[in-house]
Amino acid sequence: MPFTRPSHIPFPTTWHRFSSPRGSLRVQDLTADLHESAMELLTTYFTRDEPPCKYIGIQKYPSALAELQKLWREPLKENLSLVCVEDNEDQPPKVVGVNVLTVICKGDKEEPFQTEDKIWAQLFGAVDLVSKGVDIFEMYGVDKYLTAYGLVVHPEWRGCRVGLELLKARIPLCKALDIKVTATVFTAGASQAVAKKAGFKDLFEISYQELAKKGFIFPGVEQDTKSSKLMALAIE
Ligand SMILES: CC(C)(COP(=O)(O)OP(=O)(O)OC[C@H]1O[C@@H](n2cnc3c(N)ncnc32)[C@H](O)[C@@H]1OP(=O)(O)O)[C@@H](O)C(=O)NCCC(=O)NCCS
Repeated sequence: MPFTRPSHIPFPTTWHRFSSPRGSLRVQDLTADLHESAMELLTTYFTRDEPPCKYIGIQKYPSALAELQKLWREPLKENLSLVCVEDNEDQPPKVVGVNVLTVICKGDKEEPFQTEDKIWAQLFGAVDLVSKGVDIFEMYGVDKYLTAYGLVVHPEWRGCRVGLELLKARIPLCKALDIKVTATVFTAGASQAVAKKAGFKDLFEISYQELAKKGFIFPGVEQDTKSSKLMALAIE
């Protein structure tokens, strides 16, 4: 059975508030009125800056970009994703960071990943390989876990702990959902550092050099990041 958000959890919920040198912020559920702002942030800056996307040059490949947008847009409907917005009641919320989230359950039907698109095959194929580096269900003895398909912070807000606080907000979210583990493939040195700070542990790591030998080639990516990692956080 695909996971659905229990109706007793108020929507939207604000999971966390914090202050940064640029002002007060909050992490809340991503509501329908913010879907387009979130998609715009992901489409503009994730594709520009996330290392595999950047070095393969996804912005030059409309069909691969469309696949990536589909990967983000589908889970938004599940009402499990998080955004960080400026915490100012006087104006409409401005999205400064997004984390697209979904829950994977043990019984979920899993189709092997296949695509005709050569660029998408490289991008998603590499993430798929890393995500399978460890069996999360077995390792943690759980039947479901929270995972993510996209984390991005607006460039003007980077270094203000938005990434860290988005990851940390998964803790109250998981507690409310009665989920004991969150696991994610972190493809960027920056996100791996932030995840480590949030308490995530490395479960599986493969260098981009090794990935290239398996056919997943992101020319020059090692200037930015050495490896792709599956990391997880057990919710106490
Ligand atoms: C990754 C990302 C979400 C981090 O967001 P952020 O809000 O800037 O993160 P934070 O402010 O919480 O933390 C940044 C920390 O990472 C560190 N950092 C930045 N780049 C780094 C790198 N290449 N290697 C190691 N650490 C790095 C910073 O020094 C900072 O640590 P500090 O607080 O100890 O100084 C943001 O850089 C981003 O949107 N990148 C583009 C998209 C992307 O790569 N997403 C992740 C895909 S898994």
